[in-house]
Amino acid sequence: MADPLMLATWSFSARGCAKAWPGLAGGGSSLDAVCAAAREAEEDPTVDSVGFGGFPDANGAVSLDACVMLAPERCGAVCAVTRHLHVTDLARRVMEGTNYVMLAGEGADAFADRLGFGSSPLLSADAEAKWQQWRAGKIVPAPPARSSIGEVHVPHDTIGVLAIDCNGVMAGACSTSGLPYKMAGRVGDSPIPGHGLYVDPEVGGAVATGNGELIMGVSGSFLAVECMRRGSTPLEAVREVLQRIERRFHPAADQQIGVIALAKNGAWSSGALHAGFVVSVADGSGIRTVPCEPILHPSRETIL
Ligand code: GLY
Repeated sequence: MADPLMLATWSFSARGCAKAWPGLAGGGSSLDAVCAAAREAEEDPTVDSVGFGGFPDANGAVSLDACVMLAPERCGAVCAVTRHLHVTDLARRVMEGTNYVMLAGEGADAFADRLGFGSSPLLSADAEAKWQQWRAGKIVPAPPARSSIGEVHVPHDTIGVLAIDCNGVMAGACSTSGLPYKMAGRVGDSPIPGHGLYVDPEVGGAVATGNGELIMGVSGSFLAVECMRRGSTPLEAVREVLQRIERRFHPAADQQIGVIALAKNGAWSSGALHAGFVVSVADGSGIRTVPCEPILHPSRETIL
């Protein structure tokens, strides 16, 4: 028997963790738990980076990406989905019901139709109003906002979830609407195994959130797991990913990256380029939100 644990990016994920936790604590699977947590964010119109309520692309159309993973040979993903909300569940059905890893665009939507997933509009009135303002040049693309717990929310805050169940099985999920006002057709790190999410049961798992182009440049979540495979602690693995991004990209103060690394024994760490990234945790001690460590640039804590 293992101690069940859930870790998820950003404070909004605490609501999904709270929903999924009773099932996980009661002996349910880690895959069910990560899908339940992601589903909650996808349905929440106040989360402007995932599912319904997510910001649209430059043309005003919302497109969603998601990925689930249990192992290198057990993963599924969808990207550029425009007619269906529950993209994490759809990614799971790609993993469980096809010989493929990823379906894109209309093919992914058609697969959802065939499975009987209901289609629904993805653009909320609030996101549409902000897009209209952006198009009129009245707001900057991604205005960040600081919350009372010190979280600095930037609107490309993918939900990434990792869980270990009572049987010691680890699963992960990622779901996002991508960068606000992105070029139509742009897909980021979140649906791609090894970039936004990676799980290898021999070692552990990792999720990354933030500016997808930077994460993809270093295969962020794969790199974290590979560091742990070679003996790094989760903290050292997170630091290596952040330092690699720093060396290659010299990110600006408004380019945030958050990483969570979870070893198969339950040890974990999380870090970010700048202050403001927090992790939602669910375990035997309850559900809470904790700040990350390390922070590569603590002095750049204000990106507002
Ligand atoms: N990390 C989400 C994206 O860049 O699309």
